[in-house]
Amino acid sequence: MSNPEIASEREITDRAVSSFAHTPDARLRFVLQKLVAHLHRFASEVELSDAEWSKAIEFLTATGQKCDDVVRQEFILLSDVLGLSMLVDAIEHRNGVEATESTVFGPFYIAGMPYREYGENMALVPGSASLITGHVRDAAGNPLPGATLDVWQTAENGQYSGQDITQPHGNLRGRYRTDELGRYAIRSVVPVSYPIPTDGPVGQLLQAAGRHPWRPAHLHFMLDAPGHRRLVTHVFNDDDPYIESDAVFGVKDSLRAVYQPCRAGDPLAEQFDIGTDFRHASFDFTLETAA
Ligand code: BEZ
Ligand code: FE
Repeated sequence: MSNPEIASEREITDRAVSSFAHTPDARLRFVLQKLVAHLHRFASEVELSDAEWSKAIEFLTATGQKCDDVVRQEFILLSDVLGLSMLVDAIEHRNGVEATESTVFGPFYIAGMPYREYGENMALVPGSASLITGHVRDAAGNPLPGATLDVWQTAENGQYSGQDITQPHGNLRGRYRTDELGRYAIRSVVPVSYPIPTDGPVGQLLQAAGRHPWRPAHLHFMLDAPGHRRLVTHVFNDDDPYIESDAVFGVKDSLRAVYQPCRAGDPLAEQFDIGTDFRHASFDFTLETAA
């Protein structure tokens, strides 16, 4: 026997889906109709109540209100903790060729940071010294001189400059270029694990779900080279306690690097003028040819 309530729910869905049937842009029409159909099916399946939908609208409103023009983007954070950012990233890289894997962009990038020399220290306040070096190559293995690596990481207090106004402008951020052999070298402090911001609606969501907010230690990279597809990725510290439970699902095995302990007198220390013990990681990037 058919249930008349469910029949009328289907009718509502069908009408709402059909209302977008004349959207002139074919892709927009497809996306909107699927969105409405899936949203309706979700509401029917969980038997969404009035009170729950009001709460959800309050939550989305608060998410928008938490955003600012500078560095706080609560909607990106929401997409990240729902795993949606990584899903979109995976879809974007379907049929991927042999290139370094991408991961989440995150909400803390700032454009226009200073260009830095090969091996320059981007840590403008002292900390536990690190060096990361490697090559940037194309998919055929040829070095890419003049590639740009735009990098950013948190300070040892787990906060990014811009987010934490006590840090100097440009601290732990900068744009490096590969040399004529396609090599890069970045001096910094060893990245640390840190919690994503929990003082907004996304923090409340994590708490309600009993989930932790921690990201394993990482260094953000955005790489560009003429004729190549932009790569947004991280290099993760292999030994981080949160490496298997990133709050935003961003870890891929191929992006893990070991920061080896090095002594102040090591040849690398001499080459980069590092007067203390430090940690060194080595990581090579491969960029895909632009479509
Ligand atoms: C980040 O790594 O900067 C980040 C990524 C996703 C959410 C929050 C922060
Ligand atoms: Fe980060």
